[in-house]
Amino acid sequence: CGIVGYVGAKPALDVVIEGLARLEYRGYDSAGVAILADGGLSTAKRAGKLVNLRNALEEAPPPAGTVGMGHTRWATHGAPNDRNAHPHVDCTGRVAVIHNGIIENFAALRAELTERGHELGSDTDTEVVAHLLEEGLREAGEGGLPEAMRRVCRMLEGAFTLVAVYAGDPDVVVGARRNSPLVVGVGEGENFLASDVAAFIAHTRDAIELGQDQVVELRRDGVTVTDFEGKPAEVHEYHVDWDVTAAEKGGYDYFMLKEIAEQPRAVADTLLGRIGTDGRLTLDEMRITDEQLREIDKIIIVACGTSYHAGLIAKYAIEHWAGLPCEVELASEFRYRDPILTRTTLVIAISQSGESMDTLMAVRHAREQHAPVLCVCNVNGSTMPRECDGVLYTHAGPEVGVAATKTFLTQLVAVYLIALYLAQVRGTKWGDEVFAMVQLLATMPDKVDKVLETMEPVRELARSLAGERCVLFLGRHVGFPVALEGALKLKELAYMHAEGFAAGELKHGPIALIEEDLPVVVVVPPRARAVLHDKIVSNIQEIRARGARTIVIAEDGDDSVEPYSDTLIRVPAVPTLLQPLVATVPLQVFSCELAVAKGHDVDQPRNLAKSVTVE
Ligand code: G6P
Repeated sequence: CGIVGYVGAKPALDVVIEGLARLEYRGYDSAGVAILADGGLSTAKRAGKLVNLRNALEEAPPPAGTVGMGHTRWATHGAPNDRNAHPHVDCTGRVAVIHNGIIENFAALRAELTERGHELGSDTDTEVVAHLLEEGLREAGEGGLPEAMRRVCRMLEGAFTLVAVYAGDPDVVVGARRNSPLVVGVGEGENFLASDVAAFIAHTRDAIELGQDQVVELRRDGVTVTDFEGKPAEVHEYHVDWDVTAAEKGGYDYFMLKEIAEQPRAVADTLLGRIGTDGRLTLDEMRITDEQLREIDKIIIVACGTSYHAGLIAKYAIEHWAGLPCEVELASEFRYRDPILTRTTLVIAISQSGESMDTLMAVRHAREQHAPVLCVCNVNGSTMPRECDGVLYTHAGPEVGVAATKTFLTQLVAVYLIALYLAQVRGTKWGDEVFAMVQLLATMPDKVDKVLETMEPVRELARSLAGERCVLFLGRHVGFPVALEGALKLKELAYMHAEGFAAGELKHGPIALIEEDLPVVVVVPPRARAVLHDKIVSNIQEIRARGARTIVIAEDGDDSVEPYSDTLIRVPAVPTLLQPLVATVPLQVFSCELAVAKGHDVDQPRNLAKSVTVE
């Protein structure tokens, strides 16, 4: 969900709505605002995208005030309708609350509140907080809303970020954070609160990141942060190093198109400063010493969604270059197993947002067992970099489109850097190859750029397939995770049935799915890896013989596949392990174009959210 709070001199409604527009990628099941004005509280909320709320506000504008808050929701408890949209108010109609996360003991709290005579109007866990605050305000006396919030937080279980306003305390917005992100934007005579700096970047680039279990009191002239007990808390102040233009569409119809186009720069930025003139890597910022890295004897990667696919590719790179055993696991599964971890097991958490709850829980699970944890993350100031022993940032810039594109490519760069760096510090047998790879990595921005220049036929193909119901994707070696990512993109954006398979598994089941004209995308490894390459060429022949319509992604100059390809998509020739950097791009363009042809909003696919801060 997206959260915005404001206290200042500007019309709060404008600031909040503008902030919500920048956060809509975090959830778009409903949107709502609460504004304090003329001694009272007014709220408005609507199911669906922000535009529904905007229309409602135009018809019935609330009184103008300079203190307010807003929310865009990704539904967890309760259907995405008007009633369940945030803010929620108490019985007196003077307290309003917005919330991100899940309050696990809400059923018990709700039953107690009902017993004490409260009438709850929604199915959400959030509403109990409004009623608890109403009670807390009676007890808090002088301390007012901040004290009431601390009392309520001590009663709640689960993950939550809360923001509240109270008509009786009209110059303050109060926020509380456990798990889900919350940042303060520090302005002059005005202060902001949001789940992401994008919400206030147009006003200030000075930010304070709230820590776990902290309550913030936001006033025009200052910000006070305490823990849930009321003791002053330590906070982390930082300056945001990108500006508002990075968070805007810049002439593209969709953020996703802009973000696909930005990939050469994102890849270059992620390499920047990490390759020395002598060809050696420097990753000092990682906060994990070379000494520690030399002691590592096993690596476990945890991640979700697209980041998990980056993890699958990392496994091939780490095993090959660093010579270390490497497992990759979905974060949501990992934490419920009893993984064997020691102080010499390096856990790598990959998460562009640094906030995915499943990955965060996996990180905590690993740290409890004293395994060092390194995260690969794109968002400075997010939770995971703070909780992990080390971090390697990707420098993709803000990614707004819900389906990951440029963050995926930069995650690949980051995991290649980690694998090659491990090889460098551990002095594995691949010395010369590692050196050569680092040089080649530096040429990848150009290669990605070349792919982007030749995408028109892919777009045409995508439009021609808009009427299909199903597409299969096949790959071998690192081409297998690329196939999985291609299928995931198509599911997310075009809502089509799409499956990725390891080409070798074809004969063990999936081949039964092949029928006349079924589109099958095949990622062909470079010819240099003849064993892999020739096997997949046979696979293409097998499916074509059974009627499949073959869409083949192969390197420049590979003529062997021509006779069996209904459509041939060329990518620059690069070493096998690096091929995902070029082979993924046509699949992103393909899904995006196909979804647009079907009339879908590719930035905000149905039912999805960019960072899922619930389990
Ligand atoms: C959500 C997004 C996916 C993303 C996944 C992991 O499900 O819709 O696109 O890959 O979260 O996100 P993370 O921020 O941890 O990389």
